Amino acid sequence: KLEGISRMEKQIKTIGVLTSGGDAPGMNAAVRAVVRTGLHKGYRMIGIQRGYNGLLNGECFEMNLRSVSNIISAGGTILYTARCLEFKTKEGQDRGAAKCRELGIDALVVIGGDGSLKGAEALYRQGISVVTLPGTIDNDMPGTDETIGFDSAVNTVLQAVHKIRDTASSHDRAAVVEVMGRHAGHIALAAGLACGAEYILVPEVPFSREKLAVSLEEQMKTGRTNSIVICAEGADDGRALGMWLKERTDIDICMTNLGYVQRGGEPTARDAILGGVLGAAAVKALAVHGYTHHVVGVERSRVIYTPYEQAEEKRRTFSRPLYDLAAMLGAAQDAFSIEEKF
Ligand code: ADP
Ligand code: F6P
Repeated sequence: KLEGISRMEKQIKTIGVLTSGGDAPGMNAAVRAVVRTGLHKGYRMIGIQRGYNGLLNGECFEMNLRSVSNIISAGGTILYTARCLEFKTKEGQDRGAAKCRELGIDALVVIGGDGSLKGAEALYRQGISVVTLPGTIDNDMPGTDETIGFDSAVNTVLQAVHKIRDTASSHDRAAVVEVMGRHAGHIALAAGLACGAEYILVPEVPFSREKLAVSLEEQMKTGRTNSIVICAEGADDGRALGMWLKERTDIDICMTNLGYVQRGGEPTARDAILGGVLGAAAVKALAVHGYTHHVVGVERSRVIYTPYEQAEEKRRTFSRPLYDLAAMLGAAQDAFSIEEKF
């Protein structure tokens, strides 16, 4: 159970905002909404650069309406982001809380992923009011159905796979495409369903390379001269899988790791809107509800506020029915699942 203040025990005058962990399209839309909503409510707004690193080093500046002009459709984050190992230590967290007090920050909005949320919890335990926004392309965070950046990353993968499908079909090739998602398969599943991938490999569903090879060979025999294998990075190493398939079969295989392309680019409308709605809700959580340690997320498209200690039960679960649908529609995957009928 997280100790610390449970309700706002002091008037907020100044709100800090930072972005942390892996950047994601839509983070700037969220920063813009936090700053403009805070200014609208009469708060002093402080931008902290480079995540918890920047907090510890006092890299901050006062933000006004123009600080966030023309950023809503910009990828990345104007506040920069960074990883900060020191913040995983009690000493680092003590220093972070002391820095907030030294900077006159009464409450903090943290925009980031799972790890950033843990940092926010640590600051809360030090008596700092912190609300967090789910900013990561992985779509895998406690307290929300959807994360800021996920829709944009899926669409980036979709556009890339359409191009790869062109060359795979021209060369009668099977294309292995590795996508991000850290330990989750949400990007792979959504993109695979959207592009009609024949195979979708995700960490949530065990698979066998051997059965994949057999299925690919059978597909070739039936005249399917090209296949798309979407491989989540948490399921297998796309390049190693491709090399293994080259050795194991006579099929012409090409491998692409989409990597950091998935982290950049303009946010889709969905992510720009999600960032705006959640950014404004974060300030409301602090100013109107007096919340001090909540994840601001969405559940069935409605904004929800969940205390850190209850957020895990609201983590988006992997949809096996959606996976089964993708397998059936993909026409080939049914053939190789190592589990009997799903
Ligand atoms: P993400 O937020 O995208 O998951 P990371 O896992 O790198 O990215 O976390 C971002 C930052 O959050 C880390 O660099 C570190 O400063 C902080 N952090 C991560 N895990 C913890 C933890 N267990 N306790 C405190 N701070 C953490
Ligand atoms: O969490 C977002 C993410 O892009 C993951 O999908 C990926 O595994 C990881 O970040 C990469 O981390 P880094 O940017 O530190 O290489």
